[in-house]
Amino acid sequence: MNGKILVIGSSNTDMVVQSEKLPVPGESVVGHQFLMNPGGKGANQAVAAAKLDGKVTFIAKVGNDIFGMEAKKGFEAHGMDTSYIIEDIENPSGVALIMVDAKGENCISVALGANLALKKVEIDAAEQAFVEADFLLMQLEVPLETVIHAAETANSKGIKVVLNPAPAQAIPAALYKHLHIITPNETEASMLTGIEVTDEVSAMKAAKALKAKGAEIVIITLGSKGALVVSDDMEELVPSQKVKAVDTTAAGDTFNGALVVGLSEGMVLKEAVVFANKAAALSVTKMGAQSSIPLRNELNY
Ligand code: RIB
Repeated sequence: MNGKILVIGSSNTDMVVQSEKLPVPGESVVGHQFLMNPGGKGANQAVAAAKLDGKVTFIAKVGNDIFGMEAKKGFEAHGMDTSYIIEDIENPSGVALIMVDAKGENCISVALGANLALKKVEIDAAEQAFVEADFLLMQLEVPLETVIHAAETANSKGIKVVLNPAPAQAIPAALYKHLHIITPNETEASMLTGIEVTDEVSAMKAAKALKAKGAEIVIITLGSKGALVVSDDMEELVPSQKVKAVDTTAAGDTFNGALVVGLSEGMVLKEAVVFANKAAALSVTKMGAQSSIPLRNELNY
Protein backbone atom coordinates (compact mmCIF):
# COMPACT_ATOMS: atom_id res chain seq x y z
CA MET A 1 0.00 0.00 0.00
CA ASN A 2 1.19 3.53 -0.76
CA GLY A 3 -1.79 5.82 -0.36
CA LYS A 4 -2.03 9.33 -1.74
CA ILE A 5 -1.82 12.30 0.59
CA LEU A 6 -3.67 15.54 -0.01
CA VAL A 7 -2.47 18.50 2.05
CA ILE A 8 -4.47 21.73 2.23
CA GLY A 9 -2.93 24.70 4.04
CA SER A 10 -0.64 27.67 4.24
CA SER A 11 2.61 28.56 2.57
CA ASN A 12 4.86 31.27 4.06
CA THR A 13 8.37 32.55 3.74
CA ASP A 14 10.09 32.49 7.13
CA MET A 15 12.49 35.26 8.17
CA VAL A 16 14.43 33.85 11.09
CA VAL A 17 16.82 35.52 13.52
CA GLN A 18 18.71 33.44 16.05
CA SER A 19 19.76 35.07 19.30
CA GLU A 20 20.87 34.04 22.79
CA LYS A 21 17.50 34.89 24.32
CA LEU A 22 14.08 35.97 23.05
CA PRO A 23 13.36 39.68 23.69
CA VAL A 24 10.55 40.61 26.09
CA PRO A 25 8.10 43.34 24.92
CA GLY A 26 9.95 46.66 24.55
CA GLU A 27 13.38 45.00 24.61
CA SER A 28 15.92 44.79 21.75
CA VAL A 29 18.41 41.94 21.70
CA VAL A 30 21.36 41.46 19.37
CA GLY A 31 20.89 38.42 17.17
CA HIS A 32 23.44 36.15 15.52
CA GLN A 33 22.42 34.48 12.30
CA PHE A 34 19.65 35.42 9.81
CA LEU A 35 17.98 32.74 7.71
CA MET A 36 15.27 33.07 5.08
CA ASN A 37 13.66 29.77 4.23
CA PRO A 38 10.32 28.37 3.08
CA GLY A 39 7.75 27.72 5.80
CA GLY A 40 4.04 27.78 6.58
CA LYS A 41 2.38 24.97 8.48
CA GLY A 42 0.65 23.56 5.41
CA ALA A 43 3.70 23.71 3.17
CA ASN A 44 5.96 22.34 5.92
CA GLN A 45 3.68 19.34 6.40
CA ALA A 46 3.37 18.76 2.66
CA VAL A 47 7.14 19.02 2.18
CA ALA A 48 7.75 16.74 5.20
CA ALA A 49 5.48 14.12 3.66
CA ALA A 50 7.21 14.49 0.27
CA LYS A 51 10.76 14.38 1.73
CA LEU A 52 9.79 11.19 3.55
CA ASP A 53 8.65 9.59 0.27
CA GLY A 54 4.89 10.25 0.49
CA LYS A 55 2.85 10.85 -2.67
CA VAL A 56 1.70 14.41 -2.08
CA THR A 57 -0.72 16.84 -3.69
CA PHE A 58 -0.77 20.31 -2.10
CA ILE A 59 -3.60 22.83 -2.31
CA ALA A 60 -2.53 26.35 -1.26
CA LYS A 61 -2.74 29.99 -2.25
CA VAL A 62 0.35 32.14 -2.72
CA GLY A 63 0.81 35.73 -3.88
CA ASN A 64 1.84 36.73 -7.38
CA ASP A 65 5.29 37.67 -6.07
CA ILE A 66 8.83 36.35 -5.70
CA PHE A 67 8.00 34.49 -2.46
CA GLY A 68 5.10 32.68 -4.10
CA MET A 69 7.16 31.76 -7.15
CA GLU A 70 10.05 30.45 -5.04
CA ALA A 71 7.66 28.45 -2.86
CA LYS A 72 6.11 26.78 -5.91
CA LYS A 73 9.55 25.94 -7.32
CA GLY A 74 10.41 24.30 -4.00
CA PHE A 75 7.23 22.18 -4.04
CA GLU A 76 8.02 21.04 -7.58
CA ALA A 77 11.61 20.20 -6.60
CA HIS A 78 10.23 17.96 -3.84
CA GLY A 79 8.17 16.05 -6.40
CA MET A 80 4.78 17.23 -5.18
CA ASP A 81 1.74 17.65 -7.44
CA THR A 82 1.44 21.45 -7.67
CA SER A 83 -1.56 21.60 -10.05
CA TYR A 84 -3.64 23.19 -7.29
CA ILE A 85 -1.23 25.90 -6.13
CA ILE A 86 -3.26 29.03 -6.80
CA GLU A 87 -1.71 32.43 -7.49
CA ASP A 88 -3.56 35.31 -5.83
CA ILE A 89 -3.22 38.61 -7.68
CA GLU A 90 -4.77 40.62 -4.84
CA ASN A 91 -2.83 39.50 -1.77
CA PRO A 92 0.87 39.00 -1.04
CA SER A 93 2.37 35.64 -0.08
CA GLY A 94 2.41 34.79 3.62
CA VAL A 95 5.46 35.87 5.62
CA ALA A 96 6.45 34.75 9.12
CA LEU A 97 8.85 36.57 11.43
CA ILE A 98 10.53 34.07 13.70
CA MET A 99 12.93 34.50 16.61
CA VAL A 100 14.82 31.49 17.94
CA ASP A 101 16.80 31.37 21.21
CA ALA A 102 19.84 29.35 22.25
CA LYS A 103 17.63 26.51 23.50
CA GLY A 104 15.83 26.26 20.14
CA GLU A 105 12.58 27.75 21.47
CA ASN A 106 10.84 30.23 19.17
CA CYS A 107 8.35 33.09 18.85
CA ILE A 108 6.41 33.44 15.60
CA SER A 109 4.23 36.17 14.13
CA VAL A 110 2.67 35.52 10.71
CA ALA A 111 1.18 37.89 8.12
CA LEU A 112 -0.92 35.25 6.37
CA GLY A 113 -1.75 37.30 3.25
CA ALA A 114 -2.94 35.08 0.39
CA ASN A 115 -3.40 32.09 2.72
CA LEU A 116 -6.50 33.79 4.11
CA ALA A 117 -7.99 34.01 0.63
CA LEU A 118 -8.14 30.24 0.07
CA LYS A 119 -11.88 29.75 -0.44
CA LYS A 120 -14.39 26.89 -0.43
CA VAL A 121 -14.91 27.32 -4.17
CA GLU A 122 -11.22 26.54 -4.75
CA ILE A 123 -11.60 23.34 -2.75
CA ASP A 124 -14.54 22.38 -4.99
CA ALA A 125 -12.43 23.14 -8.07
CA ALA A 126 -9.87 20.59 -6.86
CA GLU A 127 -12.38 17.74 -7.05
CA GLN A 128 -9.98 15.40 -8.86
CA ALA A 129 -7.46 15.70 -6.03
CA PHE A 130 -10.15 14.39 -3.65
CA VAL A 131 -11.00 11.52 -6.00
CA GLU A 132 -7.41 10.31 -5.82
CA ALA A 133 -6.63 10.93 -2.11
CA ASP A 134 -6.53 8.45 0.76
CA PHE A 135 -5.59 10.97 3.47
CA LEU A 136 -6.31 14.69 3.87
CA LEU A 137 -3.94 16.63 6.16
CA MET A 138 -4.85 20.17 7.30
CA GLN A 139 -3.95 22.86 9.83
CA LEU A 140 -5.53 26.20 10.81
CA GLU A 141 -3.55 28.86 8.90
CA VAL A 142 -6.22 29.07 6.18
CA PRO A 143 -9.86 30.12 6.81
CA LEU A 144 -11.70 27.80 9.20
CA GLU A 145 -14.71 27.61 6.87
CA THR A 146 -12.41 26.26 4.13
CA VAL A 147 -11.02 23.65 6.51
CA ILE A 148 -14.52 22.58 7.55
CA HIS A 149 -15.70 22.37 3.94
CA ALA A 150 -12.65 20.31 2.91
CA ALA A 151 -13.16 17.97 5.89
CA GLU A 152 -16.83 17.45 4.95
CA THR A 153 -15.91 16.84 1.30
CA ALA A 154 -13.19 14.36 2.26
CA ASN A 155 -15.46 12.58 4.69
CA SER A 156 -18.19 12.12 2.10
CA LYS A 157 -15.59 10.39 -0.12
CA GLY A 158 -14.18 8.10 2.59
CA ILE A 159 -10.86 10.01 2.81
CA LYS A 160 -9.27 9.93 6.27
CA VAL A 161 -8.95 13.46 7.67
CA VAL A 162 -6.01 14.41 9.91
CA LEU A 163 -6.24 17.85 11.52
CA ASN A 164 -3.33 19.57 13.20
CA PRO A 165 -5.25 22.34 15.03
CA ALA A 166 -2.45 24.92 14.84
CA PRO A 167 -2.24 27.78 15.53
CA ALA A 168 -4.64 27.26 18.44
CA GLN A 169 -8.20 28.39 17.79
CA ALA A 170 -11.65 27.15 18.73
CA ILE A 171 -13.20 24.73 16.26
CA PRO A 172 -16.90 23.91 15.93
CA ALA A 173 -18.20 20.77 17.64
CA ALA A 174 -19.47 19.43 14.29
CA LEU A 175 -15.94 19.25 12.85
CA TYR A 176 -14.76 16.56 15.30
CA LYS A 177 -16.94 13.84 13.81
CA HIS A 178 -15.13 14.25 10.48
CA LEU A 179 -11.72 13.71 12.04
CA HIS A 180 -9.85 10.43 11.83
CA ILE A 181 -7.00 11.99 13.83
CA ILE A 182 -6.50 15.29 15.65
CA THR A 183 -2.91 16.23 16.63
CA PRO A 184 -2.75 19.24 18.99
CA ASN A 185 0.29 20.17 21.04
CA GLU A 186 -0.06 20.98 24.76
CA THR A 187 -1.18 24.59 24.16
CA GLU A 188 -3.72 23.65 21.51
CA ALA A 189 -5.07 20.73 23.56
CA SER A 190 -5.50 23.07 26.56
CA MET A 191 -7.30 25.63 24.42
CA LEU A 192 -9.64 23.07 22.82
CA THR A 193 -10.59 21.31 26.05
CA GLY A 194 -10.20 23.90 28.83
CA ILE A 195 -7.98 21.34 30.62
CA GLU A 196 -4.56 22.80 31.31
CA VAL A 197 -2.06 20.34 29.87
CA THR A 198 1.09 20.39 31.99
CA ASP A 199 2.10 16.72 32.24
CA GLU A 200 1.22 13.22 31.09
CA VAL A 201 -1.78 12.91 33.41
CA SER A 202 -3.42 16.16 32.27
CA ALA A 203 -2.55 15.32 28.64
CA MET A 204 -4.36 11.99 29.00
CA LYS A 205 -7.41 13.79 30.40
CA ALA A 206 -7.41 16.27 27.53
CA ALA A 207 -6.92 13.52 24.94
CA LYS A 208 -9.91 11.60 26.31
CA ALA A 209 -11.98 14.80 26.26
CA LEU A 210 -11.09 15.36 22.58
CA LYS A 211 -11.96 11.75 21.76
CA ALA A 212 -15.31 12.21 23.50
CA LYS A 213 -15.96 15.19 21.20
CA GLY A 214 -15.84 12.77 18.23
CA ALA A 215 -12.28 12.51 16.88
CA GLU A 216 -11.46 8.82 16.29
CA ILE A 217 -7.82 9.11 17.35
CA VAL A 218 -6.18 11.83 19.45
CA ILE A 219 -2.43 12.38 19.44
CA ILE A 220 -1.12 15.13 21.73
CA THR A 221 2.46 16.03 20.86
CA LEU A 222 4.49 16.74 23.98
CA GLY A 223 7.74 18.07 22.52
CA SER A 224 10.82 16.18 23.67
CA LYS A 225 8.66 13.84 25.80
CA GLY A 226 7.05 12.28 22.72
CA ALA A 227 3.41 11.87 21.71
CA LEU A 228 0.45 10.70 23.75
CA VAL A 229 -1.97 8.55 21.76
CA VAL A 230 -5.59 7.77 22.64
CA SER A 231 -7.60 5.55 20.30
CA ASP A 232 -10.09 2.70 20.76
CA ASP A 233 -7.18 0.28 21.13
CA MET A 234 -4.40 2.39 22.58
CA GLU A 235 -3.76 4.78 25.49
CA GLU A 236 -0.04 5.33 25.57
CA LEU A 237 2.77 7.85 25.62
CA VAL A 238 5.12 7.00 22.75
CA PRO A 239 8.48 8.48 23.82
CA SER A 240 10.77 10.41 21.54
CA GLN A 241 14.54 10.11 21.32
CA LYS A 242 16.56 12.81 23.10
CA VAL A 243 18.43 15.23 20.83
CA LYS A 244 20.19 18.58 21.20
CA ALA A 245 17.63 21.16 20.04
CA VAL A 246 18.89 23.89 17.72
CA ASP A 247 15.50 25.12 16.43
CA THR A 248 12.11 23.58 17.22
CA THR A 249 10.35 25.42 14.34
CA ALA A 250 8.34 22.94 12.22
CA ALA A 251 8.93 19.98 14.56
CA GLY A 252 5.16 19.59 14.85
CA ASP A 253 4.78 19.95 11.09
CA THR A 254 7.42 17.28 10.50
CA PHE A 255 5.59 15.00 12.96
CA ASN A 256 2.30 15.44 11.09
CA GLY A 257 3.76 14.95 7.62
CA ALA A 258 5.63 11.83 8.77
CA LEU A 259 2.63 10.42 10.63
CA VAL A 260 0.50 10.52 7.49
CA VAL A 261 3.29 9.02 5.37
CA GLY A 262 3.58 6.14 7.84
CA LEU A 263 -0.17 5.52 7.79
CA SER A 264 -0.31 5.85 3.99
CA GLU A 265 2.28 3.06 3.81
CA GLY A 266 0.13 0.81 6.00
CA MET A 267 2.12 1.16 9.26
CA VAL A 268 0.01 0.44 12.34
CA LEU A 269 -0.74 3.52 14.46
CA LYS A 270 2.04 3.01 17.03
CA GLU A 271 4.65 2.38 14.35
CA ALA A 272 3.57 5.52 12.47
CA VAL A 273 3.90 7.55 15.69
CA VAL A 274 7.40 6.14 16.37
CA PHE A 275 8.33 7.04 12.76
CA ALA A 276 6.88 10.55 13.19
CA ASN A 277 8.67 11.09 16.53
CA LYS A 278 11.94 10.12 14.89
CA ALA A 279 11.46 12.54 11.99
CA ALA A 280 10.42 15.39 14.33
CA ALA A 281 13.43 14.79 16.63
CA LEU A 282 15.81 15.00 13.68
CA SER A 283 14.16 18.22 12.47
CA VAL A 284 14.94 20.09 15.71
CA THR A 285 18.66 19.46 15.28
CA LYS A 286 18.75 21.86 12.30
CA MET A 287 17.78 25.49 11.74
CA GLY A 288 14.67 26.50 9.83
CA ALA A 289 11.35 24.98 8.82
CA GLN A 290 11.49 23.12 5.50
CA SER A 291 15.29 23.29 5.57
CA SER A 292 15.29 21.21 8.78
CA ILE A 293 13.01 18.38 7.64
CA PRO A 294 14.93 15.11 7.19
CA LEU A 295 14.95 12.95 4.08
CA ARG A 296 13.68 9.39 4.31
CA ASN A 297 17.16 7.86 4.11
CA GLU A 298 18.21 9.83 7.24
CA LEU A 299 15.60 7.89 9.25
CA ASN A 300 16.79 4.36 8.42
CA TYR A 301 13.21 3.29 7.71
O1 RIB B 1 4.96 25.60 12.27
C1 RIB B 1 5.98 26.47 11.88
C2 RIB B 1 5.47 27.46 10.89
O2 RIB B 1 4.56 28.32 11.49
C3 RIB B 1 6.54 28.36 10.31
O3 RIB B 1 7.17 27.81 9.19
C4 RIB B 1 5.80 29.66 10.04
O4 RIB B 1 5.69 29.97 8.70
C5 RIB B 1 4.45 29.51 10.72
O5 RIB B 1 3.45 29.27 9.83
